[in-house]
Amino acid sequence: MDIWKYFAIGHADHHFMNPLSEAKFDELVEMLRLPAGARVLDIGCGKAPLLVAIARRWDCTGVGVELSPHFIEDARGNVENAGLSQRIELVHQGGADYAAAPGSFDLACCVGASWIYGGHAGALAALSQMVAPGGLVLVGEPYWRKPPSQGYLDGSEFERDSLGTHADNAAAGDVLGLTHLHSIVSNEDDWDRYEGYQWNATGRHLRDHPDDRDAEELRALMDQYRRSYLRWGRDELGWALYLFLKQ
Ligand SMILES: C[S@@+](CC[C@H](N)C(=O)[O-])C[C@H]1O[C@@H](n2cnc3c(N)ncnc32)[C@H](O)[C@@H]1O
Repeated sequence: MDIWKYFAIGHADHHFMNPLSEAKFDELVEMLRLPAGARVLDIGCGKAPLLVAIARRWDCTGVGVELSPHFIEDARGNVENAGLSQRIELVHQGGADYAAAPGSFDLACCVGASWIYGGHAGALAALSQMVAPGGLVLVGEPYWRKPPSQGYLDGSEFERDSLGTHADNAAAGDVLGLTHLHSIVSNEDDWDRYEGYQWNATGRHLRDHPDDRDAEELRALMDQYRRSYLRWGRDELGWALYLFLKQ
């Protein structure tokens, strides 16, 4: 099955496609305190909820980079509906191919898509290059809440060493001259909503499109991820937003 189709079906009901409540999302946007005229970059911007919220709250312009043909269309619609087309540019391409001049942004984000840069450390290194001294780097990243069980690793896209702990994620900016300012951590309620929205949207798609040629694979994948989340992931996998200041 086309991977973009799979993600689009499962995330049809999500606005922000990560495990975070609206209240925490709003708190994050509020605490950014961007200077007037700030430039904001969001790599793997999805449907552009973060750029839209930041541009509504702060006097800034933004660039969103997204590879999915479905999500970039959603992003265009959301930016247009918000009346922000003059302030937010959307680019349909791979995030790692987006080249920005060093120090050309005041805030650079990659929320839940660090694989674009080969993982958390790579994402921090790439984003910090693009941010001016005194600017901010924001990443969203999973972490192990406890050592993962083999059963979870067997059925997930993660390897034991591909993630660290929450403390590891927060400390990963040290070697890059990034000061960890704050983190916002998902709780079980945030995770249950994020996961449950996917089961619900996928189930609806399967009911509405019984002739979808990918139906069997879609159902099998969703069943596997649901079982894995409920059996292991809910206890073992965490997720947080990490905000850093570039010195
Ligand atoms: C978990 S979602 C997060 C989306 C968005 N940051 C948010 O929080 O709502 C990961 C996003 O990364 C996008 N993505 C995956 N690979 C990418 C790549 N190589 N370049 C750009 N975007 C990519 C996906 O299409 C998806 O929109």
